[in-house]
Amino acid sequence: MRRGFDSHQLKGLSLMCLRSVSLLLAALSTLAACGVCPAAEYHAFRPGQQWLDDNGEVINAHGGGILHHEGVYYWFGEHKIAGRRGNTAQVGVHVYASTDLYNWRDEGIALAVSDDPDSDIVRGCVIERPKVIYNATTNRFVMWFHLELRGQGYAAARSGVAVADRPTGPYEFLRSGRAVVGQWPLNLDRTPERERWTQPEQDDQQLSRRRRRRDPDGEIPFFYFDFPGGQMARDMTLFVDDDGAAYHLYASEENRTFQIARLTDDYLDHAGDFVRVFERRLMEAPAICRRQGKYYFLASGCTGWAPNAARSAVADAVFGPWQELGNPCVGVNPANGLGAEKTFGAQSTFILPVAGREDAYIAMFDIWRPRNPIDGRYVWLPIEFTDDGYQIRWRDEWDLSVFDKP
Ligand code: DGJ
Repeated sequence: MRRGFDSHQLKGLSLMCLRSVSLLLAALSTLAACGVCPAAEYHAFRPGQQWLDDNGEVINAHGGGILHHEGVYYWFGEHKIAGRRGNTAQVGVHVYASTDLYNWRDEGIALAVSDDPDSDIVRGCVIERPKVIYNATTNRFVMWFHLELRGQGYAAARSGVAVADRPTGPYEFLRSGRAVVGQWPLNLDRTPERERWTQPEQDDQQLSRRRRRRDPDGEIPFFYFDFPGGQMARDMTLFVDDDGAAYHLYASEENRTFQIARLTDDYLDHAGDFVRVFERRLMEAPAICRRQGKYYFLASGCTGWAPNAARSAVADAVFGPWQELGNPCVGVNPANGLGAEKTFGAQSTFILPVAGREDAYIAMFDIWRPRNPIDGRYVWLPIEFTDDGYQIRWRDEWDLSVFDKP
């Protein structure tokens, strides 16, 4: 019996190999040309770098948040498209699923924009910072998001609510509106003078909205003008406490002051009790977590899509009082040369507690690319708690073993 190949056969074999390699390369370059790359398996986070899903497509879930349900993480975020139009909602809210946090399966569009011109979520509106929580009593998944009506810039400052029976949806849009209509905050004394400021005619006089905009440090906060019609809510997040109570945290009063409002037991509406916090501190991009009985807050300043310095705060209760701690960021993102003063070129969106790991929290941020929003990037970094607060240090690459105890 003959073993091995003669030189002629070997030459044939190597030609075949070469041909297969070149076919493979050609296929890869075709895929790359149409923006799709083969699915990669990740074993680490690479902040600021392109992140692909199981189909080899760039993950499209900006301003996002994560729900952990029955062993699976669901990442919800704004689906962006290329070009300036991508700053408005042309598709809806995208959802991905993962069990290891590195590798994400595309689960499609959880909440689709509508083609009905009378719908609040008609294509071309603004849908930002969607967050989903699970209600154990109703067994439903509840999505809240910041909604701006089509063609009205950022004036509507509404919250949208949608529900689904499965985490990945499809979500049914229920309604949108202003927050805590006609409700008085728990942490503000109700005096006759303040009551007067809530009367509609006050808005018609010298204190018109336009004038107030030019006079942001005026004495009378927007809260009073918005009392009858409902409070503004733009950048937002949701938080479910250990006792099952859920809260909506949002940039209100023309982004000058934050409000924290408890949700009804079914999580579909505001319950009515709320507080005004970080008064006149001009914050956006809220994220919150609970750790060892304390509540930690992460946010940004207000500079549109441009990065600024992050903010942090701590409290013993969700409703506060909150104590500001300063900028938690440390280090520099070598890809853009930006350090803590610009939050590595990013803006916060969520704090994710890692399931099954003690003291493991990930701070999630977005690097916005407003000229080509689809190219926005994600920055995920571990939170390191200190005696009096926490730090978020830049890392080029890291994995969950950073949370392993020595
Ligand atoms: C910053 C916010 O954090 C984003 O969600 C978005 O609303 C932009 N501003 C719009 O300029």
